[in-house]
Amino acid sequence: MEKLLGLTPAMGWNSWNTFTWDINEQLICDVADQFVSEGYKEAGYKYIVIDDCWSLKERDEQGRLVPDPNKFPSGMKALADYIHDRGLKFGMYSCAGTHTCAGFPGSFEHEFQDAKTFAEWGVDFLKYDYCFKPRNISGEILYKRMSLALKNCGRDILFSACNWGEDNVYQWIRESGAHMYRSTLDIQDNWESIKSLAISQLDKVCYTGSFCHNDMDMLVVGMYGGSNDGFIGSKIGGCTDNEYKTHYSLWSMMGSPLMIGSDIRSASQATKQILLNKDIIAINQDQEARGAYRIKPEPNWFHTYETFMLVKALTDGDVAVGFFNLSDSQRELPLLFWDIGLPYASGVSLSLYDCWEHKELGVFKERYSAVVPAHDCLVIRAKLVR
Ligand code: GLA
Repeated sequence: MEKLLGLTPAMGWNSWNTFTWDINEQLICDVADQFVSEGYKEAGYKYIVIDDCWSLKERDEQGRLVPDPNKFPSGMKALADYIHDRGLKFGMYSCAGTHTCAGFPGSFEHEFQDAKTFAEWGVDFLKYDYCFKPRNISGEILYKRMSLALKNCGRDILFSACNWGEDNVYQWIRESGAHMYRSTLDIQDNWESIKSLAISQLDKVCYTGSFCHNDMDMLVVGMYGGSNDGFIGSKIGGCTDNEYKTHYSLWSMMGSPLMIGSDIRSASQATKQILLNKDIIAINQDQEARGAYRIKPEPNWFHTYETFMLVKALTDGDVAVGFFNLSDSQRELPLLFWDIGLPYASGVSLSLYDCWEHKELGVFKERYSAVVPAHDCLVIRAKLVR
């Protein structure tokens, strides 16, 4: 058994944001191929996850889930083999209720049977949703059930709970056994959605960390409004590349799993530069996986809840700092080194490296001030120097 399953936030791809019901084995195989040929695997992405709408509407006579033969004619085991042959991991989706959100069979009262089926198919990751949950039973019990079922199915399966932050999930999910937990309602491919999801999690830092990561939902980076689901995106929706960059920086700094939700077969150059930024990924995947704390600039006319700095202590003693300006105008964000534990009298300065421009900014004493355009950010990695 892999003892360190879930040590750092999961990285991968999920079919939902772009494709929803329109999924099939060719698409999944193409994504696996892209992971290898376009550098996603090398950058750390490994889970390829089929979301809702993969099964038939009825279980078979033995009560087992049945993959839709039109979408997955070769079956799930063959698909898992294809993915494993490329050194990647295979993820699937079910639901704690009687039905999935799209109305397919859920795992309620089939938990141990389904965990066994997933293990037989070679599944390495299970996203577990919250629709159609019977009212008389708590979600906590149902996540504990599936967690035990997965831990005893004979295969390492990363457990991705998805109850949208309901029932104060952060208070009980870690001990229930899940490796990550959705803390928000579904993301949409627009700036307002990104901004409100991020802000909603700023005061939940103390709950995320190794083996149970705060999942702020799949990424919309690179979707540009391209989803077949009107709720998630629409052709006139989408974000600018700078907004996607800020989205990716927020999710990375805040310790969220990084699950790509766009069609990587047609990724733009800008999208690849964001998703394959090794300096940002290194912050998200830092081994100690500490949450990031927030520093608010001195409140004044310009600084509101939309401007803040996030600071993340890294395993090697470096410090990652994100200067975030989610407001609609340019802002100056001053970082006083005192606030991260460096008094002037210590004689310690910071050598700053810009993780988006990939260049050194120089050595600074006492403070560093960043001028950040609207909806943008600066992410630096700071090294302590005497
Ligand atoms: C819920 C989840 C989504 C997705 C859909 C599938 O809305 O939050 O991420 O899995 O269900 O129906």
